Amino acid sequence: MNQPVFRAPKGTFDFVPPRGEAILAVRDAMTEPLRHAGYGYIETPSFEETALFARGVGESTDIVTKEMYTFTTRGGDDVTLRPEGTAPVLRAALENGLHRGALPVKLWYSGSYYRYERPQKGRYRHFSQVGAEVLGAEDPAIDAELIVLAMDAYRALGLTGVRVVVNSLGSDESRPAYRAALQEYLRRLDLDEDTAKRVEINPLRVLDDKRPEVQAALAEAPLMSEFLSDSDRAHHDTVRALLSDAGVPFDDDPRLVRGLDYYTRTLFEFVHSGIGAAQSAVGGGGRYDGLSELIGGPRLPGVGWALGADRTLLAMEAEGLTLPGRTGVDVFAVPLGDDAAQRLFGVVTALRREGVRADIAVGGRGLKGAMKAADRSGARIAIVLGERDLAENVAQMKDLESGEQLAIPLGDVISQARDRLASLE
Ligand code: HAM
Repeated sequence: MNQPVFRAPKGTFDFVPPRGEAILAVRDAMTEPLRHAGYGYIETPSFEETALFARGVGESTDIVTKEMYTFTTRGGDDVTLRPEGTAPVLRAALENGLHRGALPVKLWYSGSYYRYERPQKGRYRHFSQVGAEVLGAEDPAIDAELIVLAMDAYRALGLTGVRVVVNSLGSDESRPAYRAALQEYLRRLDLDEDTAKRVEINPLRVLDDKRPEVQAALAEAPLMSEFLSDSDRAHHDTVRALLSDAGVPFDDDPRLVRGLDYYTRTLFEFVHSGIGAAQSAVGGGGRYDGLSELIGGPRLPGVGWALGADRTLLAMEAEGLTLPGRTGVDVFAVPLGDDAAQRLFGVVTALRREGVRADIAVGGRGLKGAMKAADRSGARIAIVLGERDLAENVAQMKDLESGEQLAIPLGDVISQARDRLASLE
């Protein structure tokens, strides 16, 4: 066989049916709890001015230094395919003046994101997220609400292996003292040049270094929790108490840090063990009370998360869950001959307009081939129309499970098909 000429770019792949239906169902399940909780839908462009991410996500992060798809347009603008959704959503909220209306503003979004990563299972260069952001509220109830909504989404998908890990990174009140203490500790270690540089620029990121020798050296490192101010500690304790009240078990991880610089106070990650050796996060988020100012806006606290749809589907497959999403149809029409084809085209159109999922054999296939297509379609009922039926103004309605067949008046096909489907439910 000839090899196809074009393939999906490295690190990307296609969703074809039935997995295509499954990824849609995953996204639907993630958005459902948000829509029920009063979140409004927001859509932003899939590229932004590069500086938005450089400032928002952080100049020294892996995302900004290594993973962005950045290019100069024909008009000379410096733009980047969005690697994440929080900075764009906040940019859009500020630009559209949402922060001047009633607060908090609760938003959700769903779309494609792009990171030039080393591709492996669960880590792609193009992936999709469903996200939620709440702007204008410092109340820890919002942090807890978001975590509960995400866990409800995972549960609705049937996932039992998702754990949530929480930490607090402290606010501006607590962080400088911790940063200094951590730096002092890290400077005493024998670290390679790159890591030593990171100690000076962004010491908290060193805690996320996965190399065993670095992890071992970090065993005695000071923890943020030892430096939290009273109000930061109270905030964190309230989030934890509300999660317990809501029946959401969580694990504390005082070393949890994430790859984006905008986080303050609450930080969390949803983890699952079935998505490959290199990563376990099916979603993550946290509070970002300083991000608005970083991108030139007023002080506007925020908190949110993004759930990875691709990784969540992998987690479901790892748990052996039957993938949600209905493919196929309920009624399959089989015309034999051109006149029958024309007549059934109208019947199928009418069925679809009435909300019945219906399809039709095309290309003048014979009865055998068309019945095979009917079986493949998943339909419960076939409507067969031959030349003799047409002359007698009837059609054959066949139950594809029992094989039972019945001649019905052509004019009644739609109502009879609907009744039959209703009786089978
Ligand atoms: P993030 O942790 O970078 O956070 O991404 C969130 C989720 O997107 C990850 O947990 C993962 O499931 C998925 N994801 C990220 N990168 C990839 C990839 N290369 N391939 C497949 N899936 C991936 C954010 O993006 C923040 N904007 C979350 C947030 C919202 N924080 C506050 N509000």
